[in-house]
Amino acid sequence: MIRWDEFLSPYKQAVEELKIKLKGMRTQFELEDEHSPIEFVTGRVKPIASILEKAYEKGIPFERLETEIQDIAGVRMMCQFVDDIKKVVHKLRMRKDFTIIEEKDYISHKKPSGYRSYHLVIEYPVQTINGEKKILAEIQIRTLAMNFWATIEHSLNYKYDGQFPEEIKMRLQRAAEAAFRLDEEMSLIREEIKEAQAFFTKKKEQTNDRRKKE
Ligand code: GTP
Ligand code: MG
Repeated sequence: MIRWDEFLSPYKQAVEELKIKLKGMRTQFELEDEHSPIEFVTGRVKPIASILEKAYEKGIPFERLETEIQDIAGVRMMCQFVDDIKKVVHKLRMRKDFTIIEEKDYISHKKPSGYRSYHLVIEYPVQTINGEKKILAEIQIRTLAMNFWATIEHSLNYKYDGQFPEEIKMRLQRAAEAAFRLDEEMSLIREEIKEAQAFFTKKKEQTNDRRKKE
């Protein structure tokens, strides 16, 4: 018999702590920057049924759940723009409160399903009444468009139990392609806005300089 409450307790603690810490990054960016690369943060502990299902599918015995299921604790960071993902990952690499043990770049290399995201597997130390316990957690960093696609694909997957009819598979790939183009378009618009802002700032500075001289 697995004592789930005990087993999941450090994971619950880790998700709560990570949510606060990563949301804190957003608040800090807002204080310093005009644009925060983090839009919002979510987190969850994997439901017991999903842990069991994954363990069964992968043939993982209970003793090895902790080391072989890396996403029992999961947090997600959503960004507006693809470029923001790099900035967020860079900041996460510099943190001293966890160790990154693996990085998966499904943005440069999207999955056959069409899935795109940047994943970090981290080792996170949880302080317990019996000392420190290091657990694994997964951080997924993605744009709003990537999140939109993944959320819908995930719920459809549930409905079809992972076995999509060819027609649906194809449509999902086309939707993934559309989400990719949406990200590209948004990046272009952002560049245009940045250029326009830079132009106006410069113009304002020039006007101010002229006024000072007058
Ligand atoms: P799994 O968690 O069994 O997939 O282990 P893995 O080693 O293959 O890890 P991977 O990085 O591929 O996937 C980890 C997580 O990414 C999953 O639990 C999902 O949250 C997400 N993910 C991966 N592939 C897909 C996909 O095709 N569609 C959606 N919606 N999410 C995906
Ligand atoms: Mg997978």
